[in-house]
Amino acid sequence: MKDLFDLTDRSVVVTGGGGGIGNAICATLGARGAHILFTDIDQRVIDKTVKKFRDEGLKVDGYLCRSSDEGEVVSFFEKVSKDFGAPDILVNNAAAAIHIPPQDTSLQEWDRVIGASLTGYFLNAREFYRRSHAAGKPGVIVNIASIAGSSAIGRGNFAYSVAKGGVIQMTRELAVEWAASKIRVNAIQPCSVNTPGWRSWVESEGDAGQTLMQKLLSGIPLGRVAEPQDIAHAVLFLASDASAMITGVMLPVDGGNLALNAGGTLGS
Ligand SMILES: NC(=O)c1ccc[n+]([C@@H]2O[C@H](COP(=O)([O-])OP(=O)(O)OC[C@H]3O[C@@H](n4cnc5c(N)ncnc54)[C@H](O)[C@@H]3O)[C@@H](O)[C@H]2O)c1
Repeated sequence: MKDLFDLTDRSVVVTGGGGGIGNAICATLGARGAHILFTDIDQRVIDKTVKKFRDEGLKVDGYLCRSSDEGEVVSFFEKVSKDFGAPDILVNNAAAAIHIPPQDTSLQEWDRVIGASLTGYFLNAREFYRRSHAAGKPGVIVNIASIAGSSAIGRGNFAYSVAKGGVIQMTRELAVEWAASKIRVNAIQPCSVNTPGWRSWVESEGDAGQTLMQKLLSGIPLGRVAEPQDIAHAVLFLASDASAMITGVMLPVDGGNLALNAGGTLGS
């Protein structure tokens, strides 16, 4: 029987591949035989990540590319397409966090967050489409959104949540626009994910961090935050032939967080 999750001979672009979730996505898809082409803005992190994965026997290349910079994204896609052919899969993952209330958000901060977390998704998707279309190849895009794109989080997530709401609607529009070109576009909505960045944010809250954790967990029926692998496994499903008939879908990986009404009560 054909292994529907086999990604041998497929190339995958992962933006922000050096970070917590991006790293798990690279490892999971790489272990299924994919050639990983990841981008990041930190050369030290890129070098470390490439070495780690190559030592594990994965096929991986890392590139310095800011997802919100049009020139850098175009050059990146030109280079990898010339070297390896048009990529088969794009995972839009790089995003910027913010914890500033809306009334205190400067235009500069707004632009920084929207640039990385929304414009970057558009630029990478557009260049991915152009290469796939020119090569006459089908393709898959997986956008890492957030539960923050569907429900309000507060706590200064304003610009971030607006960007994630945009990613969700971008996913629907692109799924419809590009279905005839056989490019599937779906999104994943994680709840809090246990990454180094997320942990240091909770720890930076000091004593309030404990209260924050209790509050977060009270909204997750499965009773834990997500691990990076939980997100990577969902990406594998949406990137693989197992989801061949799925496009335009938002998949929460949130332990039931979006399903639970804030006034709801868990059963025994
Ligand atoms: N960690 C969470 O709790 C959580 C929850 C929901 C959704 N998400 C989403 O998951 C994705 C990954 O989050 P993470 O927690 O792994 O982030 P992270 O901060 O651990 O990693 C992000 C990586 O992207 C790189 N990066 C930042 N800006 C970039 C840019 N403009 N271009 C290219 N690379 C860039 C960083 O150097 C870093 O290596 C994001 O889209 C985030 O919004 C995270």
